[in-house]
Amino acid sequence: MQFFLDTGMIDEIKQALDWGILDGVTTNPSLIAKTGRPFMEVVKEILKLVDGPVSVETVANDAKGMVEQGKRLAELGDNVVVKIPMTPEGIKAVQELESEGIPTNVTLVFSPVQALIAGKAGASFVSPFVGRLDDVSNDGMKIVRDIVQIFNNYEIDTQIIVASVRHPMHVLEAALIGADICTMPFDVMKKLFHHPLTDRGIELFLKDWEKVPQRPF
Ligand code: G3P
Repeated sequence: MQFFLDTGMIDEIKQALDWGILDGVTTNPSLIAKTGRPFMEVVKEILKLVDGPVSVETVANDAKGMVEQGKRLAELGDNVVVKIPMTPEGIKAVQELESEGIPTNVTLVFSPVQALIAGKAGASFVSPFVGRLDDVSNDGMKIVRDIVQIFNNYEIDTQIIVASVRHPMHVLEAALIGADICTMPFDVMKKLFHHPLTDRGIELFLKDWEKVPQRPF
């Protein structure tokens, strides 16, 4: 499973790149707003750092506007993925952009049939929001399971990005289900490394190392 960061923060992206486990980045208008920096400046900086797919969201309501914005965004780099909301106008825009070789990521997906529509439209990626479903007492991961099954049934190539991830259990479940990608906040990625028994084990080994005679280092 690929690991993406869901962020607009450059220092977080640099840290994940340094760990060597970053496959791509997803952004949205809220995440860019959190940086407090100009939109284009942030996007260009992310694209300079990351070789993998970088999803950048359109903010128009009609297909024409989404396609126009998508084309402008795609000019910024070969790895730009245009994020399009799951609406009828969005699906029209997906088909037009994909037919011109511009990859799209259908976002704000909350049901398996919405993902099926995105797949039928030829979207490169689809983003089910698991955390926001959990927030309203729905089982977010259930829709990921259903989407995987539907895409397998019909040999749909659209890659599934599990989004709106809140904790490491979401990452584990996404991997067990076989989702292609999990996009997560930096805080969740950091937590994936940790286990109290690992910390305790390191502490013990280092303590015992001090008792070893003639240590070479
Ligand atoms: O980028 C889309 C998605 O991951 C947003 O997550 O935490 O705002 O529900 P969240």
